[in-house]
Amino acid sequence: MAKQANSGDLEINPSSLLSVLQDLHSKYKSLQEGAVANYIPELAKVNPDLFSICIVTVDGQVYEVGDYQQLFTIQSISKVFAYGLALEDHGRDYVLTRVGVEPTGDAFNSIILDEQSKRPYNPMVNAGAIATTSLIKGTGATERLNRVLDMFHRYTGHDVFVDISVFTSERSTGHRNRAMAHLMLNFGMIDQNIEQALDLYFQQCAVIVNCHDLAVMAATLANKGVNPITGKRAVDHQYIKDILSVMYTCGMYNFAGEWAYTVGIPAKSGVCGGILAVVPNQMGIGVFSPPLDARGNSVRGVEVCKELSQQLCLHMFACGGGSSKIESGE
Ligand code: DON
Repeated sequence: MAKQANSGDLEINPSSLLSVLQDLHSKYKSLQEGAVANYIPELAKVNPDLFSICIVTVDGQVYEVGDYQQLFTIQSISKVFAYGLALEDHGRDYVLTRVGVEPTGDAFNSIILDEQSKRPYNPMVNAGAIATTSLIKGTGATERLNRVLDMFHRYTGHDVFVDISVFTSERSTGHRNRAMAHLMLNFGMIDQNIEQALDLYFQQCAVIVNCHDLAVMAATLANKGVNPITGKRAVDHQYIKDILSVMYTCGMYNFAGEWAYTVGIPAKSGVCGGILAVVPNQMGIGVFSPPLDARGNSVRGVEVCKELSQQLCLHMFACGGGSSKIESGE
């Protein structure tokens, strides 16, 4: 029997899922809106025409089109995974004392903390991510970085590396992030060693991946923390709920509400032009296209996800609340 994708009202087989991706790729490759990020000088050099879409299902089927092997730095998408590691290192209660779970409605780089608690609002904006990263355990900078790289190994299934040019480019220009770290130091939300925390944050953002990796990582979250390609656990099952909840409410920054309304699945974007989206118990989606809108989300990526959500009926509150799934046949 052929493998069937049953997404709500729509029943499609694997070859039709691939043709859905091919059609979306050809439809949106001519969309020329947006601009590549240039506030990190090294990112401004990227080719704006690069474009790929990849889906990996929880049973390990892979569908991909375009430049899915093109390497890029993961940027803010790393925040999702660093949050998971901080939760594993300290537990939910302690992490909640250092970073909240409230959407800001503001830009990803806004310098704001919660008025009362002095916590950064959530782990998906820069301030919250710097606080989260400062929680990652290790006896020194090298051990902490190695723990982050090992974590990415579990999610991607292979060794990952830091792009040194992007890291140093951001490290020497990231004054705004440094300002946030100082503000949090002032309020005791981050410990004394802010340069080490900032370096690790810049390094995690400069980890090199491709669109295929994004989909595998997303599929790992969709698969309750087990990488569907390697079969190995990447993160403790108990924290999947925490991770996906903050992705759903905060992952697309000041577009998070509209994203939840129209696309309806947990996701995270990065200024690299990547979007990683999770359909729990079904699949992970990766899209890569560098030109960004004013909120820092990939223009083509947002359009592709909106249409994928409609065509495959992926919205969490439609089509049986995510009960649909791609099934394996013989
Ligand atoms: O901290 C920064 O500004 C970058 N390393 C990451 C920002 C980012 O990807 C925000 N996403 N849209």
